[in-house]
Amino acid sequence: MLNEPIRLAIITGSVRIGRLGPTVAQWFAAEAGHREDLTVDVIDAADVPLSLTGPTRQPAPDMVEVLAEISPRIESADAFVVVTPEYNHSYPAGLKNLIDWHITQWRAKPVGFVSYGGMSGGLRAVEHLRAVFAELHAMTIQSTVCFRDCAEAFDTDGLPKDRAACEAAAKDMLDQLVWWANALKDARAKTPYSV
Ligand SMILES: Cc1cc2nc3c(=O)[nH]c(=O)nc-3n(C[C@H](O)[C@H](O)[C@H](O)COP(=O)(O)O)c2cc1C
Repeated sequence: MLNEPIRLAIITGSVRIGRLGPTVAQWFAAEAGHREDLTVDVIDAADVPLSLTGPTRQPAPDMVEVLAEISPRIESADAFVVVTPEYNHSYPAGLKNLIDWHITQWRAKPVGFVSYGGMSGGLRAVEHLRAVFAELHAMTIQSTVCFRDCAEAFDTDGLPKDRAACEAAAKDMLDQLVWWANALKDARAKTPYSV
């Protein structure tokens, strides 16, 4: 029996003016969008004005409004890919804020990473995010897509200069993500995840 397409939410983690993030996310969303086993929703952290005063049991009315738009999209996703740069050997504060405003929505779901930065290709940000998502009972994917020297990694059309290698890395990571997403979706349907 064929599985239903996995609902993948791609989260663009940088919110900086002049950021590279949307270029990276748009390329990756196009790669994911070519697959019949995925449907794609792109969530840009820059479009989610969640207060830095942090999550609370009784959010202010303006936060209730923001959450009403964003939380169902995170809840309904079967899998996530986080597109993250590296800032000072870690991930952006705005991305952490979006993660922290949600708890149950991440549970028992897989999370893949597309990272970018200087020499390290953003991998230190990814390793920090693995610890964050472990705390949230999410399953992180071993293979990643990573762009070293990211300022030089994309052409004027917004495509990776090393397209073949990047497409192969994206396929590898997405194949693993889909396997885990199907396995965990079946498991959640059989036994709701409660901790
Ligand atoms: C505040 C800041 C800190 C940074 N720290 C690092 C770093 O520790 N390691 C690294 O490889 N690149 C670092 N960079 C380079 C960024 O990864 C690179 O500029 C990337 O394009 C930032 O993503 P964005 O353009 O989507 O905001 C840093 C950039 C900024 C703005």
